[in-house]
Amino acid sequence: MVTGGAKRLGRAIVLALARAGADVVVHCRGSAAEARSLVRELRGLGRRAWVLQADLADSAQAEALFAQACRKAGGVDILVNSASIFPKGRLDGLEPADLERDIRINALAPFVLARALARTGREGCVVNLLDSRITDYDAEHAAYHLSKRLLATLTRMMALEYAPGLRVNAVAPGLVLPPAGEDEGYLERLKDSNPLRRHGEAEDVADAVVFLARSAFVTGQTIFVDGGRHMRGAVYG
Ligand SMILES: NC(=O)c1ccc[n+]([C@@H]2O[C@H](COP(=O)([O-])OP(=O)(O)OC[C@H]3O[C@@H](n4cnc5c(N)ncnc54)[C@H](OP(=O)(O)O)[C@@H]3O)[C@@H](O)[C@H]2O)c1
Repeated sequence: MVTGGAKRLGRAIVLALARAGADVVVHCRGSAAEARSLVRELRGLGRRAWVLQADLADSAQAEALFAQACRKAGGVDILVNSASIFPKGRLDGLEPADLERDIRINALAPFVLARALARTGREGCVVNLLDSRITDYDAEHAAYHLSKRLLATLTRMMALEYAPGLRVNAVAPGLVLPPAGEDEGYLERLKDSNPLRRHGEAEDVADAVVFLARSAFVTGQTIFVDGGRHMRGAVYG
């Protein structure tokens, strides 16, 4: 199952997993039409595929989503937590309710879903989508930064607590797709901010997810797919 799988990086991850042989539950919230079209594409590749909708700000919906995915697919082996929100806002203007919403969607939902997978007693793996900026400080997205840092810590905790049944890893993308409201010019402007002086493609992120899904002896690992930006140690904004 891939959360937030209808569009953008989630979609690329869904396609890469399907091409590697997985049947896929595509989770979405608002992008049901895109998810249904993707599921048709997956069936064209010979895979079984389903669309499930849930608002991951609500833990009860996250629990119900997991149960429904198990009923539809007969079980979940690989969980990719890609759904996320990326609101702008500095620490000074941060309202507790905004921070709470970011944490619910970006960190607690991945935890609730991974815990549900662990409780099945099945062997499996989880890949959490982080962000390469967790190594420094993204001052312009304070709530997002805190929520991704929390998810990074949860990744390590779950890797320890849920072994040997579950492997829990993460992928931390850097400059790959422009955020909402920005176009390709955003990637061009920022590409020199990383040592490789280019931006990545959605497929670069998807390849790392597939690698982790396949790697039976890897857990608690984070792969930075960011052209080396995490080594710069910059403060953004
Ligand atoms: N894009 C990048 O270059 C980049 C860089 C660094 C890190 N990342 C991380 O990589 C992951 C994927 O990135 P992305 O740019 O593809 O993400 P995105 O487009 O910002 O969001 C992915 C999906 O999250 C879903 N979502 C948002 N709020 C939700 C909620 N309350 N309940 C359920 N689903 C919700 C949305 O689904 P619907 O459309 O169905 O509503 C959305 O399509 C994210 O975790 C992001 O933080 C991305």
